[in-house]
Amino acid sequence: METTTDRIIIFDTTLRDGEQCPGATLNVDEKLTIARALARLGVDVIEAGFPFASPGDFEAVEKIARTVSTEEVGPTICALARAKKEDIKAAAEALKPAAKARIHTFISTSDIHLKYQLKKSKSEVLAIAEEMVSYAKSFMDDVEFSTMDATRTDPEYLYQILERAIAAGATTINIPDTVGYTTPSEFGELIKGIKENVPNVDRAIISVHGHNDIGLAVANFLEAVKNGARQLECAINGIGERAGNTALEEIVMALHVRRQYFNPFLGRDPESTEPLTNIDTKQIYKTSRLVSSLTGMPIQPNKAIVGANAFAHESGIHQDGVLKNKLTYEIMDAQSIGLTDNQIVLGKHSGRNAFRTRLKELGFELSDTDLNKAFVRFKEVADKKKEITDWDIEAIVSDEIQQAPELFRLELVQVSCGDRARPTATVTVRTPEGEELTDAAAGTGPVDAVYKAINRVVNVPNELIEFSVKSVTAGIDAIGEVTIRLRHEDKVYSGHSANTDIIVASARAYMSALNRLYGALLEKKQREEAVVN
Ligand code: KIV
Ligand code: ZN
Repeated sequence: METTTDRIIIFDTTLRDGEQCPGATLNVDEKLTIARALARLGVDVIEAGFPFASPGDFEAVEKIARTVSTEEVGPTICALARAKKEDIKAAAEALKPAAKARIHTFISTSDIHLKYQLKKSKSEVLAIAEEMVSYAKSFMDDVEFSTMDATRTDPEYLYQILERAIAAGATTINIPDTVGYTTPSEFGELIKGIKENVPNVDRAIISVHGHNDIGLAVANFLEAVKNGARQLECAINGIGERAGNTALEEIVMALHVRRQYFNPFLGRDPESTEPLTNIDTKQIYKTSRLVSSLTGMPIQPNKAIVGANAFAHESGIHQDGVLKNKLTYEIMDAQSIGLTDNQIVLGKHSGRNAFRTRLKELGFELSDTDLNKAFVRFKEVADKKKEITDWDIEAIVSDEIQQAPELFRLELVQVSCGDRARPTATVTVRTPEGEELTDAAAGTGPVDAVYKAINRVVNVPNELIEFSVKSVTAGIDAIGEVTIRLRHEDKVYSGHSANTDIIVASARAYMSALNRLYGALLEKKQREEAVVN
């Protein structure tokens, strides 16, 4: 197994740590869609989930292992496991179909976690770590070991436990900043200390895992790279627990844009133009949009790399400079992350072939069924909107293809509103049993009226906790994208839809979230019935 590397291994945890962020819950098919996109993006390792945590997680890891890891050249599929036999066994079981698999086992090492959470002594934790790494090793060669809360752990103890884990067979040792507490120079020193004080460190890759609680996650990683870290654990759009994980697009583009600065730290010629990671940066924007729409986690406009304003120049001085020479105010090209220049590409006379060709150019590979569905939507939009841009096409595809399974189907939505009218909505919904139900309701506004009317038919209690609308392009005929999140018991479900009519988009987004919620309730019921039988 390779233990030293002159390139950076990108370990993506969008589907595990990323999915732990409130409301980002994904179903198995959505996880599979994201895993495929991550493979196209070129990540080296996909942490697909925590199989022991729930049957849904197990199924997702197993399905990703079976479908995404079919060749030696593809990504390694990784599953998380606490340092417990039952977790490790479940991880190994779920990973069985993968061509390349890794078990990632972890235990806390800081005094505060040992005392209050684990209620174990340092020597007990040392013994568990050693035994569980060996146990994981009995299933596969590729084993990663993490010391949770490493940045608040006594460094001498950290060196000791890492040495024991490597001796037991860990091929990657991961240093998590679990609570997002460290600072760049401190983190760099910690990695340097590990390189200098763990005698067998050359037998493993040093990895880092970061959280962004004080906004330092990317900076911490860059310092870790300078001091010897060669695997970076990150999530698309930086989603994850609390303030999130280190954002993949930010760390990858930082290494890409400043590769001449980082080259010497990886033993390369400073002028080398060889990429530092395996990431196909042109896939970044699309993957970011996919994760945002499936998780219902919007991207703030000023977000680095993938925010709507990331490549926009507003000030006159900047615009003047960019027109004269892009390099005056641009450190990277928008096209390097796969953003097109939003040219007008298609209109209502464009045929299926032109549509298919443009989708291909944008990197969407659709099955014939999905292509047909997307084409019907494209024609509908083209009837209402003269000029269809690449951004519109992306919105149409993500809306049509990435919807939750349609258990309830919205057949009709009609509203009446205005400054002298009481907003009223009528909806017709087809139930999963095929019955068509129509109902009406009044509300404080048209969207409220639509949601009340849908609730009267669908009748699944929920609390709407977020509703946001944004336009895909400029212009009065722009497509509006609606993202909503609703809560049922302690879980959050999201829905997303795009349409030139924002009331229709709102209704469809709500229906999509309700379908996710209803699907989860059905799954839970089926599982309970299976246990009883
Ligand atoms: O933040 C953390 O410590 C983790 C570990 C499981 C690696 O997510
Ligand atoms: Zn984490």
